Amino acid sequence: MQEKIKELLSEVEGFKAESKEQLEEFRINLLGSKGKIKGLFADFKNVPNEQKKEVGQLINTLKLKAQDKLDEFKSKLAGGESSTANDLDLTRTGTPIKLGSRHPISIVRNEIIDIFSRIGFTVSEGPEVEDDWHNFSALNFPPEHPARDMQDTFFVESDGEEDIALRTHTSSVQVRIMENTEPPIRTLSPGRVYRNEAISARAHCFFHQVEGLYIAEKVSFADLKQTLMYFAKEMFGEETKIRLRPSYFPFTEPSAEMDVSCSVCNSKGCNVCKYTGYLEIMGCGMVDPNVLENCGIDSKKYTGFAFGMGVERIAMLKYKVNDLRLYSEGDIRFLEQFKAAF
Ligand code: DAH
Repeated sequence: MQEKIKELLSEVEGFKAESKEQLEEFRINLLGSKGKIKGLFADFKNVPNEQKKEVGQLINTLKLKAQDKLDEFKSKLAGGESSTANDLDLTRTGTPIKLGSRHPISIVRNEIIDIFSRIGFTVSEGPEVEDDWHNFSALNFPPEHPARDMQDTFFVESDGEEDIALRTHTSSVQVRIMENTEPPIRTLSPGRVYRNEAISARAHCFFHQVEGLYIAEKVSFADLKQTLMYFAKEMFGEETKIRLRPSYFPFTEPSAEMDVSCSVCNSKGCNVCKYTGYLEIMGCGMVDPNVLENCGIDSKKYTGFAFGMGVERIAMLKYKVNDLRLYSEGDIRFLEQFKAAF
């Protein structure tokens, strides 16, 4: 009888079903109510006592193996994935990992830095939570001066003597650099700034600026103009024209606003440039001697220029984005359109 069971065992082990019919035949033949295993159990009573233990174990093993085979092929033929190690295909290509893209504000900021670094500007950074001295007073905004209203400020606290606020411009970094560096100074300060404004397509309570500062002996307005013309052509193309209009900032004298010719309509007039042919992109001017003195720089010996631009504004013009809010919503459909060269 042992021989017969062992034969059946190897038959079960080698069994492979290619169809449901074959599998059903296997089940009836072995595990069915008139199947071979039932027959073995029936014959078991004739087994001599001393062999009962061994034969009993063999029949049980056979039954379990037959049941396992049945289960295995049932799930395979049902199309279900089996988790046995044999089914693991280690040669299959993996699922590709989706690469993120650089944010348009970072791309444009890096491009601005790259353009100015080619003419010797370095990068400086400063804190976003700033005291009144660095954000206002040192920059020639006297207390109660109406110019403070130009910048709707988020105040954090007051330590009794001085207000602490979120910086409203990166001009505050100018002050920190001038206080700690001997001229010549040629540096850029990129960073996030905050203003208490209602959020709309054209305004946000935070945005990004890049401020530039150049201080040395005999720096003139002509140097400022030439530097900005170089920047405009590098950023918007060789054909770009610039226009400087007189303006007012407490920390520069004289002050100006710079426009670039509209690249959307080639200065012919369109709704982007409001039919003027030009777009305003930054404020600039010669650093006020009061500011130099406030920061410990001899205004008789040194002069300098400064400029400041909004990164969102430049990115809007470059990528024709018409709503500022898109930059901070984190919508993948918007963000994945930008391919970084920087
Ligand atoms: N700080 C100015 C602003 O936030 C921008 C600016 C204007 C910066 C003129 C300058 C400058 O350095 O010279 O509106």
